[in-house]
Amino acid sequence: MPAWQNSKVSHSFELPRGSDSRFIGEKGAQVKNHPVYLCLLMLTAGLMGLTQAVAIPAQGQKLMIAGPSPEAISVGTGISKRGGNVVDVAVGVALSLAVTHPYYGALGGGGFALIKINGTVQALDFRETAPKATSADFYLEKAKTASTDGPFAIGVPGIPAGLWALHQKYGKLHWSELFLKPIELASKGHQVSGEWAQNTQKTAARFNEAGKKYFLIDREHSYKPGDIMKQPELAKLLKEMSNRGIVPFYQGLAAQDMVETVHAAGGVLSLDDLKSYKVRWLEPLTTEFNGYKIYLMPPPSSGGVVIMSALKLAQDVSLPSKKYLSVDELHTLAEIEKLAFRGRSLLGDPDFGPNPIKQLTSDSYLKTLASKISSGKSVAVESMKNVTVESLQTTHFSVMDDKGNTVAMTVTLNGSYGSGIVSDKFGIVMNNEMDDFTTRPGEANQFGLIQGQSNSVAPGKRPISSMSPTIVEKDGRTVLSLGAPGGPRIISAVLQVLYRSLQQGLDIDQAIQAPRIHHQFLPDILYVDATRFAPETLDGLKSKGHVIEEASTTGKVYGVYLSDSHLLEGAFDARGEGAAGGY
Ligand code: DON
Repeated sequence: MPAWQNSKVSHSFELPRGSDSRFIGEKGAQVKNHPVYLCLLMLTAGLMGLTQAVAIPAQGQKLMIAGPSPEAISVGTGISKRGGNVVDVAVGVALSLAVTHPYYGALGGGGFALIKINGTVQALDFRETAPKATSADFYLEKAKTASTDGPFAIGVPGIPAGLWALHQKYGKLHWSELFLKPIELASKGHQVSGEWAQNTQKTAARFNEAGKKYFLIDREHSYKPGDIMKQPELAKLLKEMSNRGIVPFYQGLAAQDMVETVHAAGGVLSLDDLKSYKVRWLEPLTTEFNGYKIYLMPPPSSGGVVIMSALKLAQDVSLPSKKYLSVDELHTLAEIEKLAFRGRSLLGDPDFGPNPIKQLTSDSYLKTLASKISSGKSVAVESMKNVTVESLQTTHFSVMDDKGNTVAMTVTLNGSYGSGIVSDKFGIVMNNEMDDFTTRPGEANQFGLIQGQSNSVAPGKRPISSMSPTIVEKDGRTVLSLGAPGGPRIISAVLQVLYRSLQQGLDIDQAIQAPRIHHQFLPDILYVDATRFAPETLDGLKSKGHVIEEASTTGKVYGVYLSDSHLLEGAFDARGEGAAGGY
């Protein structure tokens, strides 16, 4: 890492981390949000000329995990200590999230992973596919909410197939061993967190009957933070899967359960859809930035293309010459994001048509875009009204070992508890990923994104995504593994963490906590982290023509860094719950 790391001053303001010095759990998150701590941060920031300073990352020598919950870290660390490799750890972590985080990690969702094992980086696409009974005009005659709420919103789930494919290719421990702790978490129960309670209460009215039965007390109220929540039916399914692989999920009792539940609600998911679900191994996109090689997720993610374009634009317009968090820097970054997002709507599932990746990332196209960026005034784009606010229902975790083997995995149901449909017998929460397609040309989806024709619905097709698991190397050596939830804000979050860390030398924690902005081309609004920017900064941005909106939700980044002295460092975003730990 460049210079700043050694001159980091936030150490002297570090607060006690609890009894286990290697672990920052939710306790860490609470400390970070404590008013006294925030005051200290502001004081530190004032002294430093920075807006925020933070505690040091969690550190270890053998393995590091950054993810959404302490349970996930403890399950993953246990698997590693029993001899599991990073893939075994990732599978165990994902299974534990399926139990403890049903609002975004349930088996009825999908995701992407970037994996580096023994020097080779590959991308795994286990995103949901459109059921066979759907078509480009599937939503045109349906209620506006059909792609977000209820049975028509559901794509064919990919998480079990993704974990299985990953384990088949690289796993070391027996598949069943990875289920031991997740089964225990489901049968003996896990402790409900504040995030769990909030998400569940917010979804209460959208749940089908099974959702109410499994996730609400008396079918009405969420469990409270600190309550123990048990899922014996899910434990039974996990036990079946631990013995028989993914057959029970795609062809057995769970398949029947999901299809019966969806049919009872009037939907079209079929046994054939589930039986024919397949993951895809893809070549990652790669780009160079400031002497680093960055591996990015290719389509059906739009993240790789947009991040690659933005990093090239940053160089073209000399972003590094601008002062950290100055109006000039933030304005230029906003323009870069806006223009890099411009081509997103041309992307779609690569199996259904070519993606213009070469054109969108070509030097000549980007130089033309760069020439539009002026330090004086924001470039005008067509504005759009009535944009809804996004939810936080995806998650990411990164695992890395001391050799630089790593898995960066992002999983999602799309919205909170996805479609709100939960399978009757096993309590599997079903996604609403169909909303990521262009369901109604010209209209914005729940993230305010206007999608293109290449992203129209077709049987077996995957919708375009913003999920951006990312791996960085320096001279062949892994240095970073990261990703985030946050819909389109994933892209700007990962971009800014990459920039802050690879260009400005902030450590992984500082880079993640640094205040962020988000522009996605349309709507023409510059979203900024609420309460993190000085009024003068916001006024400066307004005077350059930006329409500013303070956003309380933004991408939440989880990342692991491997230093050249072989120290692993993990960090999670203080914008939400999370944990980082290892040994
Ligand atoms: O694939 C996508 O881009 C979205 N379904 C991700 C949704 C998400 O990150 C929601 N969390 N904030």
